[in-house]
Amino acid sequence: VRIHIALIGFGHVARRFVQLLSESRDALRALDIEPVIVGIATRRHGSVFLDAGFEADTLARFVDLVAAGNAVGPASGSPTALELLQRLGRMRSDARVMIETTVLNVQSGEPAISHVRAALSVGAHVITANKGPVACAYRALADEAAERGLSFLFEGAVMDGIPIFNLVRETMPAATITGFRGVINSTTNSMLCAMERGEDYDEALRRMQDAGIAEADPTLDVDGWDAAAKVAAMANVWMDARVTPRDVVRSGITWKSAIYARAVLALGRRAKLVGMARREADGRLHLRVWLEELEASDPLAHLDDQANALEIDSTPLGRIVITQRDGGLEKTAYALLTDLVALRRRLGR
Ligand SMILES: NC(=O)c1ccc[n+]([C@@H]2O[C@H](COP(=O)([O-])OP(=O)(O)OC[C@H]3O[C@@H](n4cnc5c(N)ncnc54)[C@H](OP(=O)(O)O)[C@@H]3O)[C@@H](O)[C@H]2O)c1
Repeated sequence: VRIHIALIGFGHVARRFVQLLSESRDALRALDIEPVIVGIATRRHGSVFLDAGFEADTLARFVDLVAAGNAVGPASGSPTALELLQRLGRMRSDARVMIETTVLNVQSGEPAISHVRAALSVGAHVITANKGPVACAYRALADEAAERGLSFLFEGAVMDGIPIFNLVRETMPAATITGFRGVINSTTNSMLCAMERGEDYDEALRRMQDAGIAEADPTLDVDGWDAAAKVAAMANVWMDARVTPRDVVRSGITWKSAIYARAVLALGRRAKLVGMARREADGRLHLRVWLEELEASDPLAHLDDQANALEIDSTPLGRIVITQRDGGLEKTAYALLTDLVALRRRLGR
């Protein structure tokens, strides 16, 4: 099956995804998937569209061009993301897909929400690694997709390539998620571990930025917004929460956390930024991101540096813990690939 793809956003994740598609060509062929990239849209690096699809060597050149700071399309006259999606919608195809990887705006979810709506309106399925649409507008977008018989998939939005949404959707039919808690932000976890080892806050943050682990705007990580967006996303998908990140009670880490982390460690415990959701007995939903002191026996206490973990409470399965030892770009790109495979399976014969 030929799947025509428009990439909206061509940053670190999308460029790695293009490489992964090429590396996985044989495996995808065995799954009856022939991906054809027809469009690439960026904000400042131009945009391109080609009905016939780009050859592998042209795509590799685009990856190098943008990585070096150059454009893929003309400086003026490049189609906008919305124009590009219109063109995708006019194509004759077995399936059309938008892969959305623009920058997260945690307050509004834009521009990603508009891109998702535009893609659905032209008959394209949606795959995204951007937390914005799921964290800020999940119910409406999922309903719009379902009404049009299209898929809205977002495995890469939380915990990189670890299949948490697929896990629940595909392997836990008829289970009720009653809550979850997790260490779900790598930057703050790495910083807390570094501060336990004696680094100060500024030093630890600078190292995370130099390593490309912190978000472009590090306040998203250290003020707890990234974790709040992930909590909102999971609560929306699993618990019909209909919330945004602003509805999550939130704290982050500050320079004082260095003193706290070392004091807690001296008592044999660990300081962790924990994101959680719990359905109270009266039906109300409690959503929080908070710096907590964890007992050494807590499964979240053992997570060092970039490790993440999530405990999911469900009826009737009880408590499941899924751990990610190391996250990162390649895993997020892989999540996009797994969504493409999930989409192919839904298309059937
Ligand atoms: N990096 C990770 O490991 C990771 C993990 C999980 C999830 N994510 C999420 O995945 C998304 C992409 O991350 P990234 O690291 O690839 O980001 P990035 O390197 O900053 O790339 C973002 C891309 O989006 C483009 N863009 C921004 N606004 C746009 C608009 N209005 N129209 C068209 N293109 C637009 C940018 O274009 P210009 O370059 O021209 O500005 C750039 O190509 C983010 O939402 C992030 O939160 C990332």
